[in-house]
Amino acid sequence: MKLLFERSTAGHRHTIMPELDVAVPELPSSLRRATRPHLPEISEIELGRHYTELAKQTHGVNDGFYPLGSCTMKYNPRVNEAAAALPGFTDIHPLQPVSTIQGALGVLAEAADLLAEICGMDAVTLQPAAGAHGEYTGLLLIRAYHLDRGDTGRTEIIVPDSAHGTNPASAAMTGFTVVSVPSNAEGGVDLGALRAAVGENTAGLMLTNPNTLGLFDPNILEITRIVHEAGGLCYYDGANLNAVMGHVRPGDMGFDCMHVNLHKTFSTPHGGGGPGSGPVGCKDFLAAYMPGPLVRRGAGGYEFFAPEKSVGRVRSFHGNFLVVVRALAYMVMLGSEGLAEASAHAVLNANYLLKRLCGQWSIPFGEPCMHEFVIDVAPLKAKTSVSAMDVAKRMLDFGIHPPTMYFPLIVHEALMVEPTETESREELDTFVDIMDAIYREALETGEELHGAPFGCAIGRPDEVAAARNPRVRYDFGGER
Ligand SMILES: Cc1ncc(COP(=O)(O)O)c(C=O)c1O
Repeated sequence: MKLLFERSTAGHRHTIMPELDVAVPELPSSLRRATRPHLPEISEIELGRHYTELAKQTHGVNDGFYPLGSCTMKYNPRVNEAAAALPGFTDIHPLQPVSTIQGALGVLAEAADLLAEICGMDAVTLQPAAGAHGEYTGLLLIRAYHLDRGDTGRTEIIVPDSAHGTNPASAAMTGFTVVSVPSNAEGGVDLGALRAAVGENTAGLMLTNPNTLGLFDPNILEITRIVHEAGGLCYYDGANLNAVMGHVRPGDMGFDCMHVNLHKTFSTPHGGGGPGSGPVGCKDFLAAYMPGPLVRRGAGGYEFFAPEKSVGRVRSFHGNFLVVVRALAYMVMLGSEGLAEASAHAVLNANYLLKRLCGQWSIPFGEPCMHEFVIDVAPLKAKTSVSAMDVAKRMLDFGIHPPTMYFPLIVHEALMVEPTETESREELDTFVDIMDAIYREALETGEELHGAPFGCAIGRPDEVAAARNPRVRYDFGGER
């Protein structure tokens, strides 16, 4: 498709600026540009068509099934959008006097309280902008805690081999050494390996439960006990909270701090780089290190305060405020029973799909699973040469967003499927039919699937080049 610059026609306009009613000051020539800027000249309808064409090339939850494992691409109720669009929330500025933004502070305080209750934590900061940012923040707390006690030798963070890549990355960014522990035959943490890994250098453990195989670790209390006994702290990666909210709390599993991905579990649209939010919760003994400012109710209303030994700000102002508004709307709308029902349905849907698919496809872990499960395409590949990538690409022709591919790393031809609670049984059945059809095609036509998708504008881009070498600037041929 054409870029806006390529659609541009001299003289086309869509904005009528009001007449100036103030004098225009003469700018010094050193501040004036010598040539006109290259801006596309476009009418309103041309602009509208451009963005509609772009939108048609993407896939969102409103277009169809989006079982992107570990990402919880569920439907986001429109009422959240209505709440986030209220002028009382959109027309304020974080530098306004506190007395004029009491409602907004109330939103922050109430959202933090509800998240603390859902997670079994004592304090929550809403500053971090995403899950990975939350991990980094939580690890700053863990580091501050050890250093504050003069325990300077705790330099290692233990991460299971099924962990999301952001876990070791956050640990390394915070200056820790990453120690990987293997999974056991059932897909959980190998307790023997964990016992061997902990010691006086252990600062903590990072774990998501259920893990990225969709399995709730039955040894979770033993795992957190082993780490605590060695003097380490336990960090919970809350990306998979959609499987357990309302049923079990990370704080009760023995975790000391954690993040929640509001843009997954608490219903903010994501994908495509929209704003996220990764609030971090912690137990009382870590609260003094929290990033500030936090909000509390004082004698004269809501007020900001800085925790005593704060690690400092991790983000400007108070985080992605409107994402928090959406999350609060979602939590209040569902209530504690509704949240528990949502996660129960997410688990039910995943198990329904697993049961229907496991006759044909290899699903090495699970039965039962939690909110997601991993298909291993390796046996099919051995028979037909059709890989997880080929299967995922073929799904695009059926209007389905592929599952997460090649993750977790411990399953080599992984397709990680997370249907979420907002899909109907009919939609899940349609997915099974499509998976059956692709399986048959793999057996019958094998190598042809290496060319899938056949009906998309872009089929198999060079993803490494796109990530490492993105072309995000239009080339005017040397002119600026
Ligand atoms: C298990 C797990 N942990 C952490 C993250 C990181 O979250 P974010 O993408 O919000 O940074 C993800 C994201 O997909 C995840 O699946």
